[in-house]
Amino acid sequence: MFRDDERTRVIEEVGGLARLGSLAAELASEAGGERVMLVSDPGVAAAGHADRAAEVMRAAGLEVALHVDVAENPSSDDVAKAAAAAQAFGPVLYVAVGGGSAIDTAKGANFVEVCGGRMEDYRGHDTATAPLRPLIAVPTTAGTGSEVQSFALVGDGETGAKMACGDPSAAPRVALLDPELTMTMPRRVTAMTGLDTLAHAVESAVARPRDPSTDGRSRVYGGAAFGLVSAGLPCVLEAPEDVDARARMMRASALAGLAIEHAMLGVAHSMANPLTRHHGVPHGLAVGVTLPHVVRFNAADDSVEGDMIRRTYAELASAAGLAGEGDRGLAEALAGRCAELLALADLGTTLGALGVTSADLPALALEANEQWTARFNPRGVDAAAFEALLGAAL
Ligand SMILES: [Fe+2]
Repeated sequence: MFRDDERTRVIEEVGGLARLGSLAAELASEAGGERVMLVSDPGVAAAGHADRAAEVMRAAGLEVALHVDVAENPSSDDVAKAAAAAQAFGPVLYVAVGGGSAIDTAKGANFVEVCGGRMEDYRGHDTATAPLRPLIAVPTTAGTGSEVQSFALVGDGETGAKMACGDPSAAPRVALLDPELTMTMPRRVTAMTGLDTLAHAVESAVARPRDPSTDGRSRVYGGAAFGLVSAGLPCVLEAPEDVDARARMMRASALAGLAIEHAMLGVAHSMANPLTRHHGVPHGLAVGVTLPHVVRFNAADDSVEGDMIRRTYAELASAAGLAGEGDRGLAEALAGRCAELLALADLGTTLGALGVTSADLPALALEANEQWTARFNPRGVDAAAFEALLGAAL
């Protein structure tokens, strides 16, 4: 069990879903009611996790409404549907059981139900016009980190572009990490969410801080998450029933999520959005394929910031037991390890293998350069740099 000094109480426990009833009852009673809006997705519901969650909460005396109409990359329309269901029911507490899509939909519904309007009204941070209702996040994947974040990532209803909508009160009050819930993930999902966690750890460790007063935390959280993924991802791919390895991946996801909360991300994520939108490359795979090239690009920075970037990469590599000569050698070892983990995922290691051609690169580069994450990358980028990066990953 660990707790960041901010908002979310993180509980790690094998079989911990059984505690959801008492945790929810406590927060509902604090909020002065007993109605809980449970948000999940069809796949997680089919695996039985949503019904289990509803059962343990009903056994604790709560009234539960279940909303499972959640899309894989939720848009503001999906959020509007969940918010309408919540408005009709009148919850005092939200519970999300699922991957990032379910958690982000619950956060979005919380914004719209409490503050009115549409998701588009809450872009940015500190945008809630009233304190949101408490939320318990119960992740069933180990990847997004949304379980500890104050942001919801939701697609703009018209353009499809990802909007980050955040508020301190949107962060889950409790993140309940039960590794048993991740055992039902297909191998492909385990691999892609694992690569996403890897990219979160490595990108946030060097990203420009959102708030200079918390500079340094992202390096600590990101570094810890990288070590857990470097050791844990091969284990969960080889032995999906290994509950200890599953627990390490869940912890990595939450730690990397906290790192993002302090420092955002970088250009692997900037390139991922257009790759997903225009070429259907799943998010985790898109960041996984470009990440080794991003590490090499950042490590080659010759400006004064380059030394710091290489130092941080070297720290990550050393802490995970990788070997290399000097900071440059260790940074290369880090890039190499990212490439090894991508190869182990066995889902393709180049953009070419995923259907992207050289003719696609200029448009992808332009769109990547417009993503908000690009501004947090430690080395400055422009469209030409993006085209070179995409070309290296081709
Ligand atoms: Fe990501």
